[in-house]
Amino acid sequence: PVRMTFYEAVGGEETFTRLVRRFYEGVADDPVLRPMYPEEDLGPAEERLRLFLIQYWGGPRTYNEQRGHPRLRMRHVPFRIGAAERDLWLKHMRAAVDSLDLHEALERQLWEYMVMAAHSMVNVQEDA
Ligand code: HEM
Repeated sequence: PVRMTFYEAVGGEETFTRLVRRFYEGVADDPVLRPMYPEEDLGPAEERLRLFLIQYWGGPRTYNEQRGHPRLRMRHVPFRIGAAERDLWLKHMRAAVDSLDLHEALERQLWEYMVMAAHSMVNVQEDA
């Protein structure tokens, strides 16, 4: 049987474009996260996250064509990501996910992935 990808189920490219646009609006105004981004223009970073998420959820594999294998933990090593940075990242992603108005089961699946992925990107150990 032919089954829809998650990418298709949530509305395809348009949905991911809206998701990352909203996410980066939050980052742009964030005094902790904004200075972590090396480029003055957040547009290219937005496009990389957009293409990565599209690929991850079963859409076109343009990310790999342009950037190679994601190796996201390795690509984040240059940035100091502790619990504070992780939680701010998730705060902006939560607002972005909410803005999509997805069906509950799809929204939960997307959000659980974001929480897992954000926790896996933490690369500095801080005292509790
Ligand atoms: C790149 C920060 C979590 C996906 C970046 C960059 C920064 C950053 C500063 C460099 C911007 C650029 O030039 O692309 C953070 C912080 C996180 C976090 C503070 C907090 C936990 C995540 C998560 C994902 C993700 C959870 C995936 C779900 C990406 C991707 C890139 C990127 C795809 C571009 C990689 C490339 O192709 O070079 N991130 N990130 N990040 N991040 Fe994150």
